[in-house]
Amino acid sequence: RCKIGVGLLGMGTVGRGVYRILMENQALIEQKVGLPVKVKKILVRDVTKDRGFKVEEGLLTDNAGDILDSPDIDVVVEVLGGIRPALDYSLQALKRGKSLVTANKDMIAEHGRELFEAAAANGCDLLFEGSVGGGIPIIRPLKECLAANRIHKIMGIINGTTNYMLTMMSREGLDFQSVLREAQALGYAEADPGADIGGYDAARKLVILASIAFNTRIALDKVYVEGITRITAEDIRYAAELNYVVKLLAIAKESEEGIEVRVHPALLPKNHPLASVNDVYNAIFVSGDAVGDVMFFGRGAGEMPTASAVVADVMNAARNLIKKVPGIISCTCFEEKPVKPMGL
Ligand code: NAP
Ligand code: HSE
Repeated sequence: RCKIGVGLLGMGTVGRGVYRILMENQALIEQKVGLPVKVKKILVRDVTKDRGFKVEEGLLTDNAGDILDSPDIDVVVEVLGGIRPALDYSLQALKRGKSLVTANKDMIAEHGRELFEAAAANGCDLLFEGSVGGGIPIIRPLKECLAANRIHKIMGIINGTTNYMLTMMSREGLDFQSVLREAQALGYAEADPGADIGGYDAARKLVILASIAFNTRIALDKVYVEGITRITAEDIRYAAELNYVVKLLAIAKESEEGIEVRVHPALLPKNHPLASVNDVYNAIFVSGDAVGDVMFFGRGAGEMPTASAVVADVMNAARNLIKKVPGIISCTCFEEKPVKPMGL
């Protein structure tokens, strides 16, 4: 092997950032990985679309087979979004022995088991750091650095779009629809922003975090979900008069009675540490029996922060391929645990 070939499925907000980092930091990445990491093909819907920047000649394709069937591609990066065709392509990539990196929380939250099983059966890496918290390192720290702990609680702000919207509604008194349009223009929102404002994006991320933290698999329909669609600039103003801020919180707790998982808007006193997490920033508190409280903070969405997490996964997959140990560290615990009905 003299290089690691990468195939990108998708070149929207995240895919563009991944391509940029792999091009701009090429030398640094080669030094850290030990071999050059080269983008070989990029799948898009429309190869003629003006992407606002230069993509190397011959890289774009609208045929997924150019990536999935290519012997030159070792690592497939899925940044299409949604379930279909992302899931079919991801399973095909794993079945063909390619490492898979994805930022797709919908796919991991809803079809994680199928994907982990395919990765384990084919000895491939399945890495998804970009799926939660944008650029914040949270998946690997939970899986690895905090592995010795019994985790009691995860609580945080894990949707950048809604945090940006609530911040702008509070700071500028702007209305819901105009701040949503801003979040979309900034590349923070999902293709269907209903998932952000309805709380489902945060719920999917919470399912991923809680499954890892509590060593189980939590089904999405066990999460109590309430979004921010009913919050107005006026509600936020009244809350401020009483020294509170409105935040969309994601909370997962494990106790003797079972697991509790919920996403909903909450009033936080202005001096609460999460009250000052603004704009597109996310923050996640994790409480473990040995470590105590740990807080993770950073940009929770957007092109370059998310691409930072995705490219780090590509580099890890590349290193594992070079060392011939892909698929060694993967989360495959499917122990069933009781989930409490909504416990507000
Ligand atoms: P996006 O901007 O909508 O980009 C999607 C890309 O996939 C586009 O390049 C599109 O092609 C291509 N595509 C979609 N369906 C396709 C199909 N059937 N065949 C071929 N190409 C197809 O999405 P994004 O914001 O980059 O998000 C990608 C993934 O990352 C999602 O799972 C999202 O949840 C996740 N994520 C996003 C962020 C963020 O801040 N945006 C952060 C973390 C995770 P065209 O360009 O030709 O239309
Ligand atoms: N739409 C998501 C958000 C992207 O706003 O947090 C990052 O996962």
